Amino acid sequence: MKRCRVEVQVSGLARNIHALRDALKPSTEIIFVVKSNAYGHGLGPVVAEAAAQGIRWFAVAYLHEALEVRRHAPDAGILLLGAIEAGDVSQALAHRITPVVMSLRQGLMLAEAARASRIVLPVHVKIDTGMGRLGLSTDNLNRKIQRLSSEEGLHLEGLCSHFATVEPRRPELARTQYERFMAAVDVAEAACGRRLMRHLSSSRAIQFHEEWDLDAIRPGILLYGYGSSELGMRIRTRPWLTWKAYLMQVKTVAAGVPVGYYSSYRTECETDIGTISVGYADGFLRSLSNRGFVLVRGTRRPVVGRISMNWVTLDLGPNSGILEGEEVVIIGRQGGDELWADEIAGWAGTIAYETLTAISQDVERAYG
Ligand SMILES: Cc1ncc(COP(=O)(O)O)c(C=O)c1O
Repeated sequence: MKRCRVEVQVSGLARNIHALRDALKPSTEIIFVVKSNAYGHGLGPVVAEAAAQGIRWFAVAYLHEALEVRRHAPDAGILLLGAIEAGDVSQALAHRITPVVMSLRQGLMLAEAARASRIVLPVHVKIDTGMGRLGLSTDNLNRKIQRLSSEEGLHLEGLCSHFATVEPRRPELARTQYERFMAAVDVAEAACGRRLMRHLSSSRAIQFHEEWDLDAIRPGILLYGYGSSELGMRIRTRPWLTWKAYLMQVKTVAAGVPVGYYSSYRTECETDIGTISVGYADGFLRSLSNRGFVLVRGTRRPVVGRISMNWVTLDLGPNSGILEGEEVVIIGRQGGDELWADEIAGWAGTIAYETLTAISQDVERAYG
C-alpha cells in the first residue's frame, strides 16, 4: 500500500551551504542546527551531506541526536544545546560532544562528573541576554565564570546566547541583546583570562546583521531553505524537502453530501471527493482542516472536512478525471505550481519550523 513519503534532495542542501558560505568571512564557522531530526529532513543523511560539503560543527538538543551526528560526522564538533545530565557526561566525552552549560549549578555538576571520570570536558557557556529561556543570567557573571573556569573538570571553550526577536522594524530589541552579549564576553574572557569562541546569530540575525556573525553562526531554517524571502535579506536559499501522498479513493458525490468527521464540509454541487494517504499521525496538521491545499495534477485542490489520523479528503471539483493512485504533493513542486512549508504554516497559523518537524519520523524518507 502506498503511504505518504518524503523525498529529500541533498543537492539542495549543498547549494544552500555554498550560498551561505559565499556570504561569510572565511573565518566564520557554521554550526549547522540539526535538532529534531534535522528539522524533519532526517538526521543521518543530512549530517553526512553537510559534512561532505565542509560543515565542521553541528548543534542538537539531545544526547541521542548528538550520538547519531557522531556516527555520520566522525570529525565534527557537536554542540549539545539542551541540559545534559551527570550520567551522560562520560558518553559526551567518549564521543567528543560539547555540552552547553546553562547554569552554575549544572556547570558544577558537569565538572564533578568529569573529575570523577578523570577527564576535562570542553563546554560552551550560554548567557541569557533576553530570551528568558536557557542560560546563565548576567547577574554576578564575573563570579560565576571565575568559578566555572577554575573547575578542574571543565574547559571553557565558547560563549553563546540566542536572540528572542530579530525584527528590522524594531532593531533595538536584538541590539540590546547583542550589547548584553558583548558585555558578557568582556566579563567572561577577563574572568577566565582567555579568548572564547563567540556565537550568537541564528537564521534571522544572519540575514539582517552581518556585523554579528562573530566567530560562528548557528543557522537552522535558512539551510533548510526557508526564512530567506524577505526584502533586505542577505542570503537566498531554497527548500529541498518534498512530501507526497497518493489518492486512495476518488468518488463522485452529489450536492449537499457531508464529508469527514462531524460533517464540517458539505459539497455545494456534484463533485469528486479524493481521499489521500496522509493524516495527522503522519504530521499533516489538523488545523489545516477545511483550510489547506495540496497539489494534484499541478493545481491546488482544497482540503475539505476534518483531517483524520491517516486520511485527508480533497474536493477535486466536478468531472475532475483524476484517478485513484495519482500522486499528490503536500510540500514541493508539481506542474507549474509549488507549495512550501511556510505557506502551509500560514494557513495553519504556525511557522515552517512546526510544519517540517511535525512530519513523523515514521514517514519514509528517500534521499537523492
Ligand atoms: C539555540 C539555538 N540556536 C540556533 C537555532 C537555529 O535557529 P534558526 O532555525 O532560526 O536558524 C535554534 C533553533 O531553534 C536554537 O534553539
